[in-house]
Amino acid sequence: MATFPFQTTDFPIFLAPMEAVTDAAFRRLCKSFGADVLISEFISSDALVRDIVDSQRKMLFEEDERPFGIQIFGHNEESLRGAAEIAEACRPDFIDINWGCPVKKIVTKGAGSGILRDIPKMIELTTAVVKSVKVPVTVKTRLGWDESSKPIVEVAEMLQDIGIQMLTIHGRTRSQMYSGTADWTLIGKIKENPRMRIPIVGNGDINSGEKAKAYRERYGVDGVMIGRAAIGNPFIFTEIKQYLAGEEIPTFSYEKRVEICLKHLRDAVMVKGERTAVLEMRRHYAAYFRGVPNFKEKKVKLMLAQTLAECEAVFSNCQTA
Ligand SMILES: Cc1cc2nc3c(=O)[nH]c(=O)nc-3n(C[C@H](O)[C@H](O)[C@H](O)COP(=O)(O)O)c2cc1C
Repeated sequence: MATFPFQTTDFPIFLAPMEAVTDAAFRRLCKSFGADVLISEFISSDALVRDIVDSQRKMLFEEDERPFGIQIFGHNEESLRGAAEIAEACRPDFIDINWGCPVKKIVTKGAGSGILRDIPKMIELTTAVVKSVKVPVTVKTRLGWDESSKPIVEVAEMLQDIGIQMLTIHGRTRSQMYSGTADWTLIGKIKENPRMRIPIVGNGDINSGEKAKAYRERYGVDGVMIGRAAIGNPFIFTEIKQYLAGEEIPTFSYEKRVEICLKHLRDAVMVKGERTAVLEMRRHYAAYFRGVPNFKEKKVKLMLAQTLAECEAVFSNCQTA
């Protein structure tokens, strides 16, 4: 069995790095519901070396978040090396390089999944980062650029040979963005390669304990990473953990969801200020209250609210705390 470069469970469940979602408030909430490994939002290496305060803030984490990874992205060797050194000073358990982001303005510079069009450069830049720090370096990427170019099986071996210590693969190509369904077949092929020693984390479309178990068995991955299914639903980690342990899947009452949602919002306000927190929480409400009858009116109010007090008022007659 592959060994993770940090202490964790036999089959860790990761919270995926998600920009404007996985801030410290949400990460700690997910941890309290069972997420084993947390990673920062992606951080621009160019911004880090230029001392941009917002990017520095994204590196911060609490001791109880460990094992914790700081994720950086970039296309320039000097910035990537410099950013890795800055990140290392925060003492994360690992530094993750983002070679998977499909966003156009990042890709066109050759960062994120843009690097999948130039594998020699990916290897060169990753090597530079591995050599610049002592902390374990890991990579998160996709299958390849498009349907005609999916070199991930060979790339995984190359990345292992230059010293990365864990590889996460989102089972889509860059050109798929987030469309269609994730294809884990090649992830399974990597696990079948007898030369592979590093842990392989599968990512893409896991939204239940049943699917996590089925994909673990079918593709042999060492851990799974949960992204969109955790938005407004930190409970997914408990669900997956209990399902894998053969235990009954818990249900979370409306009152509990209100309590957790408000805790999430209040903690986010502490972490990033009221304005940003109130705006970014809008992404979570639909999932927090999916299936709740007659919630529409409350949801409209939440989407229009500008302050913490306005959000709290929406739930004023159903707070349990
Ligand atoms: C809102 C949002 C923000 C994301 N930001 C990042 C990021 O900062 N770094 C990263 O590696 N991937 C990022 N991703 C991709 C996720 O980490 C994950 O790979 C993808 O959502 C597929 O997993 P899922 O099907 O479980 O959602 C982001 C995805 C979403 C939806």
